[in-house]
Amino acid sequence: MSDLEVRKLPFNFDGVEFDWHPGNQPFGMMMNAVTFQVIGFEHYMCKAMRDAEKFITNPAILAEARAFNAQEMVHSQAHKKHIKALLTRYPGLQEVLDGSVARYDELYKNEDLHFHLAYAANIEATFTPLFGTIIEHREALFGGGDPRITALMLWHFCEEIEHRSSAITVYNHVVGSRFYRMKQLGKVLRHIKSDVEAIHAGFAKHVPGAPTCGTKGAFARIPAWPTFRMIAGIIGSQMPWHNPERGHVPAYYKAWRSRYEGGADMTSEHLLAHNPVPA
Ligand SMILES: [Fe+2]
Ligand SMILES: [Fe+2]
Repeated sequence: MSDLEVRKLPFNFDGVEFDWHPGNQPFGMMMNAVTFQVIGFEHYMCKAMRDAEKFITNPAILAEARAFNAQEMVHSQAHKKHIKALLTRYPGLQEVLDGSVARYDELYKNEDLHFHLAYAANIEATFTPLFGTIIEHREALFGGGDPRITALMLWHFCEEIEHRSSAITVYNHVVGSRFYRMKQLGKVLRHIKSDVEAIHAGFAKHVPGAPTCGTKGAFARIPAWPTFRMIAGIIGSQMPWHNPERGHVPAYYKAWRSRYEGGADMTSEHLLAHNPVPA
């Protein structure tokens, strides 16, 4: 059972800028796309987990699936708050959200439960290498950006690392075939890619003057070796024998957790270091 905790943080995004990180726009836009994508994606996974419950015969795994869902639903609520703040100035962004949710609903209708659980297990497995690297380079990536969005993302990424084994545990119990999961990867990535591209196209359509960088260059400030390690970790996460529990957990996670447990305000994270964009 994951050592996970459902934390409802009192985020307030009133007046937040769409371009909340002008010093690192590619990364800022990537994080905006995360906000819009996680609503449909996390609902999709939660539906799959709920539908999987009747096939779970182990009480500890059932508890894991339910705890996972509880944590993911709180993530969605916080990102919805972020979107709500953006909608006050850019109401057309509702179409971007609706489009992404519809693509996930469509996928849920068109594929079976085994596919949905493979989708969740595959993508969740990438999060420890992906978000772990982002966390370890947080000063370079988030430094100088709006501290509220920084806090939102770091909270979410820490909790993704916290429940890193949940989706794969449920998949292994209900589906079992480790090779089936790997075989679905192409379809999973195509779906994610088309959703991300549609979200960025929606930003360009509905936000006048929005940076048009998409995700290109989002990781430009991560040096070559950690970037290589992150990519190797993401590829390794798709192997049939992969066990996310053994993934590297950044020291920041523990520090973040102790700050939370000590009653600190976790809704605003000031990372002031700011590395200039490499020439
Ligand atoms: Fe999440
Ligand atoms: Fe997750």
